[in-house]
Amino acid sequence: MLFQRLLDMKSSILCLSLVLLLLIAAPLSAKDAAFDGEKLFNARCGSCHGVKGAGTGKGPPLVHRIYEPNHHADITFRWAVERGVKAHHWNFGDMPKLDGVKLEEVEAIIKYVRDTQKEAGIY
Ligand code: HEC
Repeated sequence: MLFQRLLDMKSSILCLSLVLLLLIAAPLSAKDAAFDGEKLFNARCGSCHGVKGAGTGKGPPLVHRIYEPNHHADITFRWAVERGVKAHHWNFGDMPKLDGVKLEEVEAIIKYVRDTQKEAGIY
């Protein structure tokens, strides 16, 4: 009898922990998958700004001291995507505005670029 009750208690605690774990883990993993900054960067920016933001023949490196936060704050990344950029630092031509990049995706891309800039010792 006592054993049975203990067993019941144990399984309800187990059940509860599983539910809690799911509640905590599900949104986190969904978020990671949907807003993976590196993947988004490669898909939407990489064709011009290059792998790891190192630049290509079509666009400048973003992992460069010109684009460190004191010179190009995060807002300039949002504007670049929303409005495009008139060429002013380099000779690659203008950056077209990019349709279909959600604000959350831009935020994830900015975080990825900032992390990569830090790794490269830019700031
Ligand atoms: C079709 C090529 C192309 C794509 C795709 C592209 N860029 Fe650009 N980007 C450029 C060019 C060209 C410039 C202009 C550089 C200059 O100042 O001469 C630029 C400039 C920028 C700047 C500097 C803005 C400023 O105020 O000087 C930022 C930030 C930027 N891009 C972010 C992004 C991000 C984030 C993405 C992806 C979501 C992206 N770009 C995709 C070509 C591109």
